[in-house]
Amino acid sequence: MKQIVMLCLSLGFFVACSNQKKSADITWNDNAHLVSKVDSVLKMMTLEEKVGQMNLLTSDWTITGPSLRSDYIDLIKSGKVGNIFNAHTAAYTRSLQKIAMEQTRMKIPLLFGYDVIHGYKTIFPISLSESASWDLEAIETSARVAATEAAAAGLHWTFAPMVDIARDPRWGRISEGAGEDTYLGSQIAIARVKGFQGNSLEDLNTVMACAKHFAAYGAAQAGRDYNTVDMSDRVLRDVYLPPFKAALDAGVATFMTAFNDVDGTPASGSAYLLDQILRKEWNFKGFVVTDYTSINELVEHGVVANHKDAAAMAANAGMDMDMQSMAFGDYLVQLVKEGKVPEKKVDDAVRRILAMKFRLGLFDDPYRYSDETREKEVLFSKDNLEKARDVARKSFVLLKNDKQMLPLSKDKKIALVGYLADSQVDMLGSWTGAGEASQVTTILEGMKERFPNITYTKGCDVNTDDRSGFGSAIAAAKNADVVVFVMGEKGNMSGEATSRSNINIPGVQTELLAELKKTGKPVVVLLANGRPLTIEKEVELADAMLEIWYPGTQAGLAVTDVLAGDYNPSGKLPVTFPRNVGQIPIFYNVKNTGRPFKEDDKYTTKYLDVSNDPLFVFGYGLSYTTFIYSDCNLSSNEMTADGSIKVSVTVTNTGNYDGSEIVQLYVRDLVGSVTRPVKELKGFQKIFIPKGDSQKVTFTLKPEDLAFTRADNTWGTESGEFEVFVGSNSRDVQSARFNLR
Ligand code: NOJ
Repeated sequence: MKQIVMLCLSLGFFVACSNQKKSADITWNDNAHLVSKVDSVLKMMTLEEKVGQMNLLTSDWTITGPSLRSDYIDLIKSGKVGNIFNAHTAAYTRSLQKIAMEQTRMKIPLLFGYDVIHGYKTIFPISLSESASWDLEAIETSARVAATEAAAAGLHWTFAPMVDIARDPRWGRISEGAGEDTYLGSQIAIARVKGFQGNSLEDLNTVMACAKHFAAYGAAQAGRDYNTVDMSDRVLRDVYLPPFKAALDAGVATFMTAFNDVDGTPASGSAYLLDQILRKEWNFKGFVVTDYTSINELVEHGVVANHKDAAAMAANAGMDMDMQSMAFGDYLVQLVKEGKVPEKKVDDAVRRILAMKFRLGLFDDPYRYSDETREKEVLFSKDNLEKARDVARKSFVLLKNDKQMLPLSKDKKIALVGYLADSQVDMLGSWTGAGEASQVTTILEGMKERFPNITYTKGCDVNTDDRSGFGSAIAAAKNADVVVFVMGEKGNMSGEATSRSNINIPGVQTELLAELKKTGKPVVVLLANGRPLTIEKEVELADAMLEIWYPGTQAGLAVTDVLAGDYNPSGKLPVTFPRNVGQIPIFYNVKNTGRPFKEDDKYTTKYLDVSNDPLFVFGYGLSYTTFIYSDCNLSSNEMTADGSIKVSVTVTNTGNYDGSEIVQLYVRDLVGSVTRPVKELKGFQKIFIPKGDSQKVTFTLKPEDLAFTRADNTWGTESGEFEVFVGSNSRDVQSARFNLR
């Protein structure tokens, strides 16, 4: 088969690389050279070989799903599997690639995918945490570093970003996304795609990104992972789909379908999602992969009777690649021969997959990513670690700071308490790539460097009822000026398959917090978690509380930067924190209802036992300094259909520290052909203001920012009155009104 590759070369299949390099990745599909190269290879393939390209199997290195086929090496050899995930390192990917290049007839290079979600070796904060930075540059940097490290370890493809809107903190995977908001989620989706894919997939420090999980996975009923999703098409299109479209417009190479059904059809067999929306309406030219075994799961969903019919349903819906089911591998050839799946479907899928292999430069040099020298230079580089530390401290959210408890002066006698304060692995959160817990700087280690008067006692575990450590923690507290208690969830309590019906602080941690408080010493809580928690009691007990999520490899250093006041926190919550589980789902951009809440009117929307207000609103976060908003002005109180208006506000730093503020812009469409949310985020700016200074912030609002799915199901604006709000979170805002003509 060497001849075939040689033939390809001599026919000039590979000549156009430099041209492609220049062409923007987004328009790759219009590249005639690429199309002809792909077609030339396709022409030489048997149906069996084509189907082989449509299979993706896991190696036995990492297990990220239920069942494992151990025969992946044999399947590579026989051309039945053209893509592998969960195999990494330059050496291992090279050895597998060698099999494809030397032992298969077509010698088509393998594609290597992996869940590089918030870092490959150098682990950055979990995605939800990074989103709390609202810092698109920082988020892009994180994805850039992840891609650089992953690509140096032989990988071509990351299964990220997860762009699922999530409004139910019981769902453990809320930790993997950008939170509850469509606009913020879309901006972050773009930043992540840009970070992973860089300027061109041919560059050796980029990997293909994958927008997942298409679609609406975040809306699993009752927050139970893999559960049914049922929503109106309007909500799907207005709330859940825009981050996917944003990823697509940013040039994302691939999509992954969701496990769930939407309106009765499982996503991996949904012609509506794949063919209609993704391909016809959005013109997506990359390829779509299923989630893990989700073709086979069409049987459990109850829409087909067996795996063969499942393969037919998925292929006919427009699925390109089967992750781990081997349903395509086992049945697709037969299905084509029986006329149940048109061969064109297979050809189109293979074209899309081969096009990506070309774009990655794999046909030029299948081993170009598997470079051990580069791998050694890049992984855990000083620069990557510095970036991880910076992104981590940008991601923390100061939830409470009574009497300016924080920052702590360096001569304070500190009693550091909590299992999580001395844990390495938990600081990584879920989906830790190839991250190494042994490389994590714990909070204890980080703090010791800058707070010489520190003692550490564990106090208690995260989720046992062992109180035997209470005594020594209380004694340490009594002997200190201040207590710092790191409490929350273990790193593996969020992520896939980690739904909780109770999202309180587990174990006896809160009990210990109450005991520590009784000592009369001020208590600072550092909250480590991957989801909003119900922490009303803990907030009351704590004098200060810093949400640190899971900060990654540099956890201890980043936390210490903030506690010591070397960095002023500026993060804002990308998701609402409820008071109790009964309030869920709770998010800021709700509808007004016909009976909006009135304190003194029983027959309005409310609970008997809890207020409608969350514990912390979307967009909330404090700083060591204070910011005052004034002079909210509009450039005009009329916007024309092809015009725009400017919204400005002055922000003054009135406190004692220089600091960054995230200024947020919301709108409300006061009368629509369908009910409209009471507030929708439409812009934000992160600005740095030295203490005592003021800064004018200006946003431009355009008609397209006001568009939605109207009563007649068309997308567009409606003329009428709008309210615009500017402020430091979704509740504390100034407002003005304008008319859209
Ligand atoms: C299942 C998860 O849902 C998905 O996000 C992940 O990318 C795959 N497994 C592969 O590990």
